[in-house]
Amino acid sequence: MASFAASVVRNSVFRTPSSAFRRVSSRTLTTRATSYTLNTGAKIPALGFGTFQDPDSQEETVSRALKKGMRLIDTARVYDVEEQVGRGIKKSGIPREDIFLGTKLWCSDYHPEDVERAVDDSLRDLDTPYVDLLLMHYPCTFKRGPDRFPRDAEGRIVHGETTFVDTWKAMEKVTRTGKVKAIGVSNFSMGEIKTLLDEASTVPAVHQMEVHPYLQQKEFNQWLQNLGIHVVQFSPLGNMNDFYRQTGWSKEISHMMRVIDQPVLKEIGEKYNKSPVQVVLAWGINSGRSVIPKSVVDWQIEQNLEADFELQTENMARIATLDAKARFNDPSLDYEWRLYSDLEGIDGTMRGKTH
Ligand SMILES: NC(=O)c1ccc[n+]([C@@H]2O[C@H](COP(=O)([O-])OP(=O)(O)OC[C@H]3O[C@@H](n4cnc5c(N)ncnc54)[C@H](OP(=O)(O)O)[C@@H]3O)[C@@H](O)[C@H]2O)c1
Repeated sequence: MASFAASVVRNSVFRTPSSAFRRVSSRTLTTRATSYTLNTGAKIPALGFGTFQDPDSQEETVSRALKKGMRLIDTARVYDVEEQVGRGIKKSGIPREDIFLGTKLWCSDYHPEDVERAVDDSLRDLDTPYVDLLLMHYPCTFKRGPDRFPRDAEGRIVHGETTFVDTWKAMEKVTRTGKVKAIGVSNFSMGEIKTLLDEASTVPAVHQMEVHPYLQQKEFNQWLQNLGIHVVQFSPLGNMNDFYRQTGWSKEISHMMRVIDQPVLKEIGEKYNKSPVQVVLAWGINSGRSVIPKSVVDWQIEQNLEADFELQTENMARIATLDAKARFNDPSLDYEWRLYSDLEGIDGTMRGKTH
């Protein structure tokens, strides 16, 4: 099995004023612009931009975020915002080749005969000839067809007849067309990734998964890092997203104190003149991962762009104490699939009661 250590490039006139380092965005002098090298050799920025929700704002905010210096955009077929994201990219005027754009294949398009067509649909809506990254959104397959959430008479999701390995092999084929530069997974367990490694030939370039100070998944992160699978943290701010309070996915724990209200983050932030949000994002970056906070608010996007700074070891250690093994995104019951089965943060998920 191939193992590639993802390497880190930091571009910053503040920390490394050598001509070998080139600033790649309009950051301030006190902010780095870290990027990592994927197992494909491509570079992925540490700081990125999520596009789940607020479809009406996405065209404008994607455009503004790019103009302000974001270079990594994360979207997905199922978010129904690909057209807006595509228009936002065009409107920004930033050359396509300067942007790392990733989207996700949805579970009802997992039949191997559907994969390339689904990629074509995404490319058409994104108005781009290629994506830098295509992720399998979840390991569960749904019945193929136009219905994204196919359900039986009792309202239960109907699964597809193929497996995620079949889908992965079809994704591998699409990389040969040039429409997709790298492939990866999202929301996989360790066992599911092992199955891919055993049964297919491409090591995922990325695993996009829930990571924040309340769900640190240290061993799993280390395991992925050893395999050269780069981690992109979704919901990097933890339970900030109201979606988790509104759905039954994590009813009780989503009402925990917000991650960013933890006093220790405020204390650490004061040392660096940064906000708790910036400390949380910097913790992810200083752990070797990318973070993709979503925001439609200008000052928040600007704040997030200033979140790439060095945190001293003792402050990283203090943030480590916040690990509550609290997972907010767990649609296992709805999707009729025991997600994250060998990972932390799934205790208490059972029919009729979520956490
Ligand atoms: N692969 C998957 O299954 C999966 C699952 C979930 C998410 N994702 C991806 O990850 C992205 C981020 O995840 P997420 O949206 O769940 O969580 P998040 O980015 O951790 O939190 C988003 C929330 O934080 C707020 N926020 C952002 N920056 C802020 C700041 N500087 N100060 C105060 N509040 C701030 C946003 O407010 P406003 O919206 O009001 O600006 C929004 O309510 C998504 O957009 C999506 O691209 C992937």
